[in-house]
Amino acid sequence: MALLRVTDLSKSYVTYRKDPGLTGAIKALVHRIPIAVDAVKPVSFDVARGEFIGLLGPNGAGKTTILKMLTGLIAPSSGGATAFAEYDVSKRPRAYLERIGMIMGQRNQLNPDLPAIDSFRLAQAIYGVPDAEFQSRLDQMLGLFEATELIHKPVRKLSLGERMQMEMTLSLLHGPELLFLDEPTIGLDFVAARRIRNFLKAINESLGVTVILTSHYAKDIEELCRRVILINKGVRVYDGPLSKVDERIHGHREVEILCASVGSAGQVVSALAALPGMTDVAPTVSPRDAIMRVQFSVTPRKLAGALHGITTQVAISEILDIKISEAELETVFGEIYARGV
Ligand SMILES: Nc1ncnc2c1ncn2[C@@H]1O[C@H](COP(=O)(O)OP(=O)(O)O)[C@@H](O)[C@H]1O
Ligand SMILES: [Mg+2]
Repeated sequence: MALLRVTDLSKSYVTYRKDPGLTGAIKALVHRIPIAVDAVKPVSFDVARGEFIGLLGPNGAGKTTILKMLTGLIAPSSGGATAFAEYDVSKRPRAYLERIGMIMGQRNQLNPDLPAIDSFRLAQAIYGVPDAEFQSRLDQMLGLFEATELIHKPVRKLSLGERMQMEMTLSLLHGPELLFLDEPTIGLDFVAARRIRNFLKAINESLGVTVILTSHYAKDIEELCRRVILINKGVRVYDGPLSKVDERIHGHREVEILCASVGSAGQVVSALAALPGMTDVAPTVSPRDAIMRVQFSVTPRKLAGALHGITTQVAISEILDIKISEAELETVFGEIYARGV
């Protein structure tokens, strides 16, 4: 049985167009022209208990909108979601809210003027968490972060990374089974982001919390999520194991050849085109300082053939450098956004 079942969930926002300037503003008071923005096109997916799902997509893809609908903060335009086989999430039943947690990287739930412990106590009272349970959860969270002393400092004195640790602790004190995270590592430096990732990994693996995380950093996804849902312009372009995306990475080599002149770069391109089975290679040529850079991507099996073809057709003295690398996760996601898997 799915922990969360999302069925044809969609959202269009209605905004109003306004002509520029004061007259535009006045005109808009009388005659408003509505424009619908289809932020999320109907999407369906199931979430099983214990999963760690990454919702990934470029800015404006619709990730936050999906999380807001799943936590009942905004109403969907169509479809809906059922959680724990009983709650209609858009109705925000209290029993559902008590079983979930939500963290938005850009929004603070802690009172900045108070030490975090005061906000924790408030949450304890709101959710009615018994003292012993509260204390053991708090010890557990702070232990994972090694951050026992932070809870007594006013939140505004904490670094961004420390504040996020406190936000995460806060959102877990009532023992949620399902955690929604919107860009939890946004703006964090490398070390702070890694700390957050380790924490999330631990709560998923040892506490069994199901996590749905949005991020536009491939790194977060790579380290944490076994399943990824890629969204572009409100449309789901991929939903499946990260390992499939990984295969694409390991199945391709990015080749960069630096040539001494425009002429030899052209020879590289025609040498490639003349080779059998290279029609899909599509090299690009761009100037880099005074030299020309030819870039293409091939499967490992075709790599030797491509290099042989080039080095027999182009004068070796014209080839300044050859660099071969594996594709980056970001690049592969970019291709999937554009063309699908
Ligand atoms: N309250 C709103 N009113 C109108 N348009 C909105 C609103 N919130 C988001 N949008 C639009 O919906 C689209 C998706 O936004 P969002 O869900 O925030 O994307 P993401 O989180 O992936 O960056 C964007 O085009 C955004 O401009
Ligand atoms: Mg967002």
